[in-house]
Amino acid sequence: MAVAACSPGLDGVGVSTAGGGGTGAAAVDAGAEAPPFDPQVRASLVPFGKGEETSGHAPGLYDFALFANEAARVTMAGGARSFPLGSVLGIEHQRRDGSGKGPSFFMEKRSASGDRFGGWRFVAVDTQGRVVDQGQLEACGHCHRDAPNDYVFPALTPVRPADAGAP
Ligand code: HEC
Repeated sequence: MAVAACSPGLDGVGVSTAGGGGTGAAAVDAGAEAPPFDPQVRASLVPFGKGEETSGHAPGLYDFALFANEAARVTMAGGARSFPLGSVLGIEHQRRDGSGKGPSFFMEKRSASGDRFGGWRFVAVDTQGRVVDQGQLEACGHCHRDAPNDYVFPALTPVRPADAGAP
């Protein structure tokens, strides 16, 4: 997959500029080793919550809705700080000006911890439902590695770092 082909989806949420260089090659390598992400997975995810004005993906441009599969939902409900294999999280974006939806993003736990992003595969899906990029994407991981709960931000999980105050 050419890097150029990945850009439209990522540009839409402003992560390509934040990601720096060299993300395309890493994405292709990681994606080639694993079975490709199946966009049909979306149908198996349940809503987990909504938020206004993404702080991470094109800040201020989108409202967002969060989704999780059963493995991830149970993990979050139990307050665990790390997610089991097979966990899938999703986020969908709606433009705040009402002009339509933005891309969807997914995180899928593919290995216990054996890579630089804690075993997570990152996936970007365009507004047509097509996967535009997937793998150990630096463009995503460079932010998510700073998230407190196994690469997951507390916008989704009820788990918060000890110093973040009362839940
Ligand atoms: C600039 C930092 C940043 C980048 C880059 C980024 N994210 Fe996020 N992401 C966040 C933040 C912050 C949240 C929490 C929701 C919010 O406030 O936007 C989040 C939420 C998510 C969620 C819901 C789970 C959670 O952690 O809350 C998924 C799935 C996700 N991002 C996937 C991706 C993918 C895939 C990419 C790359 C295409 C990506 N993200 C790039 C910061 C980022």
